[in-house]
Amino acid sequence: MVMTDTTRGNGRTVDGRLGASRQTKFVLDESRIPRAWYNIAADLPTASPPVLHPGTGQPIGPDDLAPLFPMALIGQVVSREREIEIPDPVREVYALYRPSPLIRAHRLEKALATPAHIYFKYEGVSPAGSHKPNTAIAQAFYNKEQGVKRLATETGAGQWGSALALAGSFFGLEVKVFMVRVSYDQKPYRRILMETYGAQVVPSPSRDTEYGRRLLAEDPEHPGSLGIAISEAIEDVVTTKDTKYSLGSVFDFVLLHQTVIGLEAREQMEMAGEKPDILIGCIGGGSNFSGLVFPFVGEKLRGDNDYRVIAVEPEAAPSVTRGKYAYDFGDTGKMTPLVKMHTLGSDFVPAPIHAGGLRYHGMAPLVSLLAEQGVIEARAVHQRSTFEAGVQFARAEGILPAPESNHAIRVAIDEAVRCREEGVGRVILFNLSGHGHFDLSAYERFLAGQLEDHEYPAERVSAALAGLPTVAV
Ligand SMILES: Cc1ncc(COP(=O)(O)O)c(C=O)c1O
Repeated sequence: MVMTDTTRGNGRTVDGRLGASRQTKFVLDESRIPRAWYNIAADLPTASPPVLHPGTGQPIGPDDLAPLFPMALIGQVVSREREIEIPDPVREVYALYRPSPLIRAHRLEKALATPAHIYFKYEGVSPAGSHKPNTAIAQAFYNKEQGVKRLATETGAGQWGSALALAGSFFGLEVKVFMVRVSYDQKPYRRILMETYGAQVVPSPSRDTEYGRRLLAEDPEHPGSLGIAISEAIEDVVTTKDTKYSLGSVFDFVLLHQTVIGLEAREQMEMAGEKPDILIGCIGGGSNFSGLVFPFVGEKLRGDNDYRVIAVEPEAAPSVTRGKYAYDFGDTGKMTPLVKMHTLGSDFVPAPIHAGGLRYHGMAPLVSLLAEQGVIEARAVHQRSTFEAGVQFARAEGILPAPESNHAIRVAIDEAVRCREEGVGRVILFNLSGHGHFDLSAYERFLAGQLEDHEYPAERVSAALAGLPTVAV
């Protein structure tokens, strides 16, 4: 094979194979599905702050989490092993869509006239259309193994609910989904997909829980939020036999399961003969971002390599860029354990942006810790600019992205344009976390010029932050 040396604008020299330099897809064989997840806890310079009991304010132990999760998942949260083996039945289901492709966005590079090389890892190839099955399949497997019969969960955009409905049907578990009311109304087809996989779906706030009924009494048109839907799902779990709670983001074990994305991407970047300079992902609760970047961040923490890592959030829910790093509840009903994270206050209900999966008041504790320590950076973007980026991407690359993923694309494009302006060629890798085939009404509104930007809701955030719990730790 002919080898050429290409000196990139960042001064680094990389080997680019002549044939490979025009290659578009980097595809791994099924045998290359990772055999272990990467556990970043092994490489953190300081341990994560403890998780606290919502009633006592004291650090919790495995027994406190046992009503919610199977022991195998609780064990993963406390593990400090760098590698955690992926069970064979999970890898067998992964094989339906993994390894996912890494794609070089040649046409977007050309459209932007940028010297940057832009790569994206495409998670929209999963049956549910996003990265969410990577953890749904694992969670369903461990629950089934422990004899659980039924799972309850929340969903924002409907992507997570679809993923768990799919996984539940594969492992023979009943699934009940509390779907945030605005998404339930905006996305009827997501609900139908979940029902087709066999799940029961209700709009949240719902009449099925004490908490939901209380909120509906105050406001029958309540738009709901992820924080509220989580409270309803937890109430369902603690009041129903043989039922456990499943969640699509935030918790350490969810982020762990998503690392298959970055582990594959690292191998695929090697196939492409390149090393990323900048890694980008959108953040709602932090799972797709962490899934892509953690294996690279591990190298950074160990001092083996350096990367710029950017998490992108909506201006309507800017938890990392404008929130406070403090102990808070993960839900609005104050039922979850207290975790230290970037938060806008658990009472904060974000504006009804179309990226429903990013409408969350908090952030994964691991993402918050890394942002606090300056290992990663965060940026907030407005709704309309993300759709502009998504449409530009669709016209160049053909894939219609999920509104959440458009946040990552916005910053990838901004960084590529900066490369053009500075005359520097950098390698950019971002996570295309899902497709937007169920989000066409949002695109329709954007194309008709009807989408709004929502300014930073300073007053509502300070009101919500005033209600932060006081903890002794
Ligand atoms: C396609 C897509 N991307 C991103 C997200 C945000 O979640 P997370 O930050 O956990 O990846 C969601 C959540 O529903 C989603 O559906």
